[in-house]
Amino acid sequence: MEHYLRPGTLQLGAPPPLSLYVHLPWCLKKCPYCDFNSHELAAPRLPVVAGPRPGPRGAEGAGSGTRPSLDPALESRYLDALRADLEQSLPLVWGRRVHSVFIGGGTPSLFSPEGIDRLLADVRARLPLEPGCEVTLEANPGTFERERFRAFRAAGVTRLSIGVQSFDDTFLARIGRVHDARQARAAAEEAASAFDTFNLDLMYALPGQDLAALDRDLDAALSFAPPHLSIYHLTLEPNTVFANRPPVLPDDDTASAMLDRIVERTAATGLQRYEVSAFARPGHRCAHNLNYWQFGDYLGLGAGAHGKLSFPHRVVRQVKWREPARYMAEALAGRAMSNEDEVAREALPFEFMLNALRLREGFALQDFRDRTGLPLSAIEPALAQAERRGLLEADLTQVRPTARGFDFLSDLQAMFLPLAR
Ligand SMILES: C[S@@+](CC[C@H](N)C(=O)[O-])C[C@H]1O[C@@H](n2cnc3c(N)ncnc32)[C@H](O)[C@@H]1O
Ligand code: SF4
Repeated sequence: MEHYLRPGTLQLGAPPPLSLYVHLPWCLKKCPYCDFNSHELAAPRLPVVAGPRPGPRGAEGAGSGTRPSLDPALESRYLDALRADLEQSLPLVWGRRVHSVFIGGGTPSLFSPEGIDRLLADVRARLPLEPGCEVTLEANPGTFERERFRAFRAAGVTRLSIGVQSFDDTFLARIGRVHDARQARAAAEEAASAFDTFNLDLMYALPGQDLAALDRDLDAALSFAPPHLSIYHLTLEPNTVFANRPPVLPDDDTASAMLDRIVERTAATGLQRYEVSAFARPGHRCAHNLNYWQFGDYLGLGAGAHGKLSFPHRVVRQVKWREPARYMAEALAGRAMSNEDEVAREALPFEFMLNALRLREGFALQDFRDRTGLPLSAIEPALAQAERRGLLEADLTQVRPTARGFDFLSDLQAMFLPLAR
């Protein structure tokens, strides 16, 4: 522990809010565009146990009474590893309260409600959660049924995030999803009836999609009056099936017209765009993601999970072992962490801006000082230049991207790179 506390040139303020991210790494099938740390369950050592066997698309819909799930022995071993990982991490966050929990993946809804209950009980027994702490679980259509949703809620989940992607069978098939449109609708309906707050994840600029098709997806999504929507531009990530065999995607002008349509239609139904890809009704912003964007701290548990933790004179990033079997073996032997780095002083302004400028409201200058430990002089030249170029606006306390800055976000963020300053 001493090496985290030794002297350094940064002077951080009181530690920022602390969130907890828990990664559950398995999926029914790897999607061809996905570069997340997710692992297909088809491997022989990771059997899927089901009631009646899942249908030809791999999963039954919400309300059907059947579901694929993890082998209970595997689930139990993974939960043991998470508990060991948490115990190894405790000295780093001693005395701090957790402000949000996000159980992401992978496909966390493949875990049983009893498993999620045990996970949250393990967390609560070791880390104090703030009253009213947001607890999000990611769920894929087709991996749960009605009672399962309510059981997740009874286990302490307060918010569900459903990976819908599209409500159209044609596009779901083109992006290799295992669920269909009926299951997507059933999942959104269930989320709306079982939870006070929930999110729908959508993607746009899908292979062959045009504005009319996007409008149909928006019609469907908005018909559930979601308190929160996340809408991502489909990107071709290196080392994915789509990167090797790229589908034909809409051109840049069409994609940009699609984004305009998304912004216009969400605003018309009372959803505010508070971050590049996130839209929420008042009171329904995602506290967990906001903490990332505000350069808060987070502890990451689980295979490949990332963490960021602040100490009086340094900011540290940690990564856990990526491959699930290795992660379980190492965590159970007391070595969950595979890598740890101190963020270099010169890299901090860009790291901060990479997050904070994604927010429509930008950031408080005081938060920059407190959370990077740097004086404002570290960014003043770049701030002034961005203001001159009409990309930022600032007053004495707050800096926010202009509409133009929001449109050219990567150019704006790049102005804070070490070499650019
Ligand atoms: C890692 S996934 C986990 C959620 C869940 N497993 C699912 O896929 O529905 C989180 C979200 O990231 C988005 N996403 C993943 N890969 C993407 C890509 N290549 N381009 C754009 N969005 C992507 C999807 O909207 C997805 O719902
Ligand atoms: S279901 Fe989600 S996490 Fe799993 S492979 Fe598909 S996009 Fe990735």
